[in-house]
Amino acid sequence: MVMQDLLAIRERVEELRRQIEYHNYRYYVLDAPEISDAEYDQLMEELRRLEAEHPELQSPESPTQRVGAGPLEAFGIVEHRLPLLSLANAFSPEALRAWHARVARLIGERTLRYVLEPKIDGLAVSLTYEQGRLAVAATRGDGLHGENVTANVRTIRSVPLTLQGDPPPVVEVRGEVYLSRAAFERINAERAEAGQPLFANPRNAAAGSLRQLDPRITASRPLDIFFYQIGYAEGAVLPRSHWDCLDLLRAWGLRTNPENQLVEGIDAVIEAAVAWEHRRERLPYDIDGVVIKIDDRDLQAELGAVGREPRWAIAYKFAPTQATTRLLKIEVNIGRTGSVNPYAVLEPVSIGGVVVKLATLHNAQDVRRKDIREGDTVIVQRAGEVIPQVIGPVLSKRPPNTRPYELPTHCPSCGAPIEQPPGEAMAYCTNNPAGCRAQLFELLKHFASRPCLEIDGLGEKLAAALLDAGLVHDVADLYALTKEQLLRLDRMGDKSAENLLASIARSKQRPPARLLHGLGIRHVGGETAARLLDAFGSIDALSQATEAEIAAVEGVGPTIARSVRQWFDEPRNQTVLAKLRAAGLPLGPTATSGTGGQPLAGQAFVITGRLESMSRAEAEARLRALGATVSDTVSKKTTYLVVGAEPGSKLKKAQALGTPLLDEAGLLALLEAAEHGAPAASA
Ligand code: IVH
Repeated sequence: MVMQDLLAIRERVEELRRQIEYHNYRYYVLDAPEISDAEYDQLMEELRRLEAEHPELQSPESPTQRVGAGPLEAFGIVEHRLPLLSLANAFSPEALRAWHARVARLIGERTLRYVLEPKIDGLAVSLTYEQGRLAVAATRGDGLHGENVTANVRTIRSVPLTLQGDPPPVVEVRGEVYLSRAAFERINAERAEAGQPLFANPRNAAAGSLRQLDPRITASRPLDIFFYQIGYAEGAVLPRSHWDCLDLLRAWGLRTNPENQLVEGIDAVIEAAVAWEHRRERLPYDIDGVVIKIDDRDLQAELGAVGREPRWAIAYKFAPTQATTRLLKIEVNIGRTGSVNPYAVLEPVSIGGVVVKLATLHNAQDVRRKDIREGDTVIVQRAGEVIPQVIGPVLSKRPPNTRPYELPTHCPSCGAPIEQPPGEAMAYCTNNPAGCRAQLFELLKHFASRPCLEIDGLGEKLAAALLDAGLVHDVADLYALTKEQLLRLDRMGDKSAENLLASIARSKQRPPARLLHGLGIRHVGGETAARLLDAFGSIDALSQATEAEIAAVEGVGPTIARSVRQWFDEPRNQTVLAKLRAAGLPLGPTATSGTGGQPLAGQAFVITGRLESMSRAEAEARLRALGATVSDTVSKKTTYLVVGAEPGSKLKKAQALGTPLLDEAGLLALLEAAEHGAPAASA
């Protein structure tokens, strides 16, 4: 080949590598791609072809080499040039103050600047770049020696193989390799499918993925990284401020956490750290605390370390969310639609200060998939407000003689056969609420609950009493109750009987969407009910619609449509509807013209932050049921921005636009008024 051609090809190869690395950076680090996946694939394809035709041009820095070479025999050992330190922990705001006091004793009391970084529970790695090229990547190991995982780290797309800008000739940077929650769940689902043991948490999954002798396996796992420290930098003067060092990392093309914060004074540190305990669930990855670092690196040097723990940094750790304990027994609950909900009876265990005795197992398919057995030691998770759940068994602790769990074949409440419809994860009692007390009990509670007919005073106890006394056989029977009947119930006085009857009477005025939701049709929640009524105008009209017509409604698929049609086709349900109509509930077209049933028609709501008295979904469903629209973005058309605790950026936008704000109390007042027929407040 002519020399000229080879030069041109070399140039083209280098150009392609530059372009591909640039697009990797846009995509994986900045999350802002400039070209389509197809265009990217074309560049890769051309580079692969040229490298195959000219093996002399191949290079370990080439983006084609990220997918990983063949398996390694074992990891080599890397000696860290500067030890990788660990962190002392603080489990309370008081412990943070005590840390501040210790620091103040050494350097004098003064107001410092601190950097707060979410503490991702992944694994620490150290990457050395020589002349801007990734030379070595190592795990933390014992802090002095780590394993050489270069081949694996190269497969992480957000790790640049060459640095941008003007890095020092030799620089060692540190960061945390992790898996998002979604990736973790996907990997575990695949492992469960393949009968492999599950990873207990994203940290173990990330460690298991990175410490793979076969880099091709690592390459198949969507590992990611955030860089948080410059370790060693040959012949370079680093900024005095850690915050500025993070900027420098970014300038070299290294991904830093956009959630990092710079704050002043220990009070602000505590406020921000505590706030993270609530914000953590909004992140796509698990964090187990926040790392707090004194920003001034001269002070860091002055403070030094005690053993392996620097005095200038501390980890504020959240209450733990997982624990292991013995699963004593698996029992089932029957839901209002007949769903069979398995749950675990546990040897009581304390998780983050709360004793957990019961945990949900989701559904039959999940128990089978994870092969959770009675007698197993299991990992239990309790996070935030959600019901504790069993993550999976610890197989190494499984005692002999356990047996795979079998769902009961018959409903423990009514004895009807249990069936799992093909393609559904849930199994169901084949009876209906009229014939299954467990279903009717759950249905009554649901019917009376706040998002539905909102009958004050009708909770667990009263629902059970009404069933025991044989006064109620379907939800419509509630409207035929008399004071005499109620007075015969245990602990029912004159006043409470009257109050109950009054709130039952009031419930007749709820908008039809809430009634439809309350009927307990499988797969019809508040939002679907509102959509169906928007489309058909009334429950009567809906009951006449064909399955295809129902399935055509936006956001309503064939599964919901089939379930709705089946419900209305059941003669017993027609009887219930007839009784409800006779009692005066709104089944037909609403009498008043136009927006009579839709007091908030034409009003546009946006919600930001956390509501205390109801979930956001519930608030949205109630607003929609009243005719309002609810969207995600504040615009000039927004009637109200509802502001909950810890509002997000929507609040700023609303303030800029002058959008009227509504706090939670205001929202409740407005909902109450609108649901009880008062004219809608206007902005
Ligand atoms: S700094 C002083 N920053 O926490 C240097 N560590 O307990 C110590 N970690 O091994 C590390 N996020 O695996 C630092 N933003 C962050 C971190 C972080 C997570 C992990 C890291 C380290 C462990 C220390």
